[in-house]
Amino acid sequence: MIDAPLPTGDDKTRQVRAMFDAIAGRYEMVNKMMTFGLDARWRRRAVTDLRLPPQSLVLDVAAGTGDFTRELQRQSQRAVATDLSYGMLAAGREMTRRVQADASAMPFRTASFDGVTCGYALRNFTDLAGTFVEMARVVRPGGRLSILEVAEPQGGLLRAGFRLWFRRVVPFIGSLVSDRAAYHYLPRSTAYLPPTPEIVALLNAAGFSAVNHRRVMGGLSQQFIATRGA
Ligand SMILES: C[S@@+](CC[C@H](N)C(=O)[O-])C[C@H]1O[C@@H](n2cnc3c(N)ncnc32)[C@H](O)[C@@H]1O
Repeated sequence: MIDAPLPTGDDKTRQVRAMFDAIAGRYEMVNKMMTFGLDARWRRRAVTDLRLPPQSLVLDVAAGTGDFTRELQRQSQRAVATDLSYGMLAAGREMTRRVQADASAMPFRTASFDGVTCGYALRNFTDLAGTFVEMARVVRPGGRLSILEVAEPQGGLLRAGFRLWFRRVVPFIGSLVSDRAAYHYLPRSTAYLPPTPEIVALLNAAGFSAVNHRRVMGGLSQQFIATRGA
């Protein structure tokens, strides 16, 4: 139901998994259409900003079909991809290690990774605070975190254009080439996203320090960088 209230709790997890399983096959194609391919540049910078030496072990949380995982591998990191949706992981390419798991309870040892990346998934997590705690658990002290998430430009023409694009055109394109309900859910799902200071506070509470937030390309996207505290 396109206008049904947004789900919460276990219902949300179930619906999010089913939705991504359903759109997995065309996910990357629609993504490229939505961002005009600009996300490749944002991901490159997000991986560089980890500032980890080559061959570090990095966990890509909510990896989907692996756009971030492949960028990690291109930048000579050893990447592990994990996602709730089997369909998304199965549709991915060139991902050496894939593990299906809920990000709020991952089957990895404490402090076993040098870094974590997470692309465009915060809105989809049922338990955002618990997921940050879990990310902090699996990263070693001094390890790094880099997150990309959707955003909205702050003012003027860019904001108006973005709203038209994201709220009207993207659902229309998504309906034509993929799944109608999923691409109507996409702009609505931004309602799950807490304000930036709250996200920073959650990251700090989870055990990350030096949390840095920056708007990407006039606010078309946003990035959080942080270090795992000792
Ligand atoms: C918009 S996609 C982003 C995929 C990929 N990171 C990217 O940047 O293209 C969101 C992903 O989050 C995953 N996801 C949603 N809830 C999750 C959870 N609780 N645990 C792990 N992954 C989850 C979905 O299955 C989906 O693959």
